[in-house]
Amino acid sequence: MPAWGALLLLWAAAEAVKDCPAECTCQALETMGLWVDCRGRGLTALPALPVHTRHLLLANNSLSSVPPGAFDHLPQLQTLNVTQNPWHCDCGLTYLRLWLEDRTPEALLHVHCASPALADARPLGQLTGYRLGSCGWQLPASWTYPGLWWDVLLVVVATLGLALLACLLCTATEIFD
Ligand SMILES: *[C@@H]1O[C@H](CO)[C@@H](O)[C@H](O)[C@H]1NC(C)=O
Ligand SMILES: *[C@@H]1O[C@H](CO)[C@@H](O)[C@H](O)[C@H]1NC(C)=O
Repeated sequence: MPAWGALLLLWAAAEAVKDCPAECTCQALETMGLWVDCRGRGLTALPALPVHTRHLLLANNSLSSVPPGAFDHLPQLQTLNVTQNPWHCDCGLTYLRLWLEDRTPEALLHVHCASPALADARPLGQLTGYRLGSCGWQLPASWTYPGLWWDVLLVVVATLGLALLACLLCTATEIFD
């Protein structure tokens, strides 16, 4: 490899490592991307992660949640180790669960929940929608209104129908009288 090629690689590696969060250690991989090791730092929140993160180790911290979309800006992220954290497994953890389910489903069995009581000590992978909770999400208003208006329409049609029937009966009785 020509000297300038090696220099370019070194520069790229240095550029990548430069964004490393203070709480973690980063290593540039030969295949591009970063190995970001944040194990055992007592983290309670995710650090600002470099965009080239490929492998992320978050094991043995005090993380209880991951904001939805937390890894969306990391297109190269392939593996995520989040074991040994006091995860609070409610609906707020749905993003992490889906992320792991898509990429490394076997890892879900090793991610244990610390709370709430419904999920306590279960692997995140075993929690159904009921145990994760719905966060109080509801169908948007526009979905519920047609049903309501449909009911109103039925009542109106039924009332008109009855009124019409009553009129017919009245007229019929008058004719026969
Ligand atoms: C977890 O991290 C703490 C520091 O926060 C460290 O003292 C301990 O040895 C680590 N445990 C494991 C199993 O890595
Ligand atoms: C995650 O990290 C822990 C501790 O460093 C290790 O014991 C475990 O094997 C790792 N799990 C995965 C799925 O990489």
